Amino acid sequence: MKALFLAGGMGTRLRPLTNQIPKPMVPVMVRPLLERTMTKLKGYGIEQIVLSTCYQPQQIEEYFGDGGRLGLKIEYIREDIPLGTGGAIKNTEKFFDGPFIVFNSDILCDINIEELIRFHRSKSAVATIAVTQVDNPSMYGVIEFDRDDYIVSFKEKPHPSEITSNYINAGIYVFEPDVLREIPSGRAVSVEREVFPSLLQKGYQIAVYKGGSYWMDIGTPAKYLQAHKDILSGRCKIPEADYTSNIIFTGKNSKIHPHARIIGPVYIGEHAEIGAFATIGPYTVIGNHCVIGRGSKVAGSIVWDKVTVDSGARLIDTIVADNCRIHRNMEFCKTVYTQQVSHPMAM
Ligand code: GDD
Ligand code: MG
Repeated sequence: MKALFLAGGMGTRLRPLTNQIPKPMVPVMVRPLLERTMTKLKGYGIEQIVLSTCYQPQQIEEYFGDGGRLGLKIEYIREDIPLGTGGAIKNTEKFFDGPFIVFNSDILCDINIEELIRFHRSKSAVATIAVTQVDNPSMYGVIEFDRDDYIVSFKEKPHPSEITSNYINAGIYVFEPDVLREIPSGRAVSVEREVFPSLLQKGYQIAVYKGGSYWMDIGTPAKYLQAHKDILSGRCKIPEADYTSNIIFTGKNSKIHPHARIIGPVYIGEHAEIGAFATIGPYTVIGNHCVIGRGSKVAGSIVWDKVTVDSGARLIDTIVADNCRIHRNMEFCKTVYTQQVSHPMAM
């Protein structure tokens, strides 16, 4: 089976991080989320991928190329103007002649794809939507289903007064090609607002798949930090981590000064240097090629690549984008710090 990733959104709620890079390229534990998800799919034998891009497509294309480096075969389809989720799916019609998987690109989850496909086949539905339960469903597609797990209603981002279920669309689907035929062409279409309700109205059966124990949309800075906490604590596991250790991963050629204080769980990338009397952690990620100065403190923070933290600086619950420098004795708490902004944004 082939998989399609919807990777064209602007990532507005993750600004300013997404001013520089498209959301699918935002690193999760030092590697782009899209890479992590595609690698997981490869583990299920899914090696043919279609990437539907629009916002900053060249960064995605340059990084992944034809997919050979990851053992995948990646094809691209680019929109000049956003076609919406449904229009983007319609645009990929030529790639699919059988059932296929669709992923939103900002989802971190532990869904068993093999089980999802098996479930879809058993339901003889035109589509299967993976669902998950959340406390506040109003930011998502809210789904009601019957006792046989077929959808009764789909409401995208309903007003809180209209919420009748805490099951939401997890942004992972299996579609039969009939879905493609039902999407109007030549204009922007939302799969959530238009296609799902219309399929239901026409009497098509859409099944819900409730498997999977971890799910998170990393679409806001707060959720991005939470996703990292969940990985660091082992609630959502990544393959390279050693969860019995204080430092769950250390990349090659990293140097930690013997007088640095590491409070786990911490993840350290490649070629990183942690200076004397620096305190790192808990719940902290230090990216590749970072230099963390003497006596500084980095806690609850996600530091991307090539960042310098000068001596005595403090970062608490903060995200620092690539190539930034945190000057001596500066202190940031609950901040998204990027090179492009002269005034860091509070979360
Ligand atoms: N190619 C393309 N073109 N991709 C797009 C476009 C477009 O015009 N618009 C959005 N996308 C991609 C985004 O990059 C993202 O991967 C995915 O489609 C969903 O867009 P989001 O902007 O992240 O949507 P959302 O988070 O508000 O809601 C969606 O995800 C929720 C789960 O996280 C919906 O599918 C909800 O129903 C769902 O609950
Ligand atoms: Mg999203």
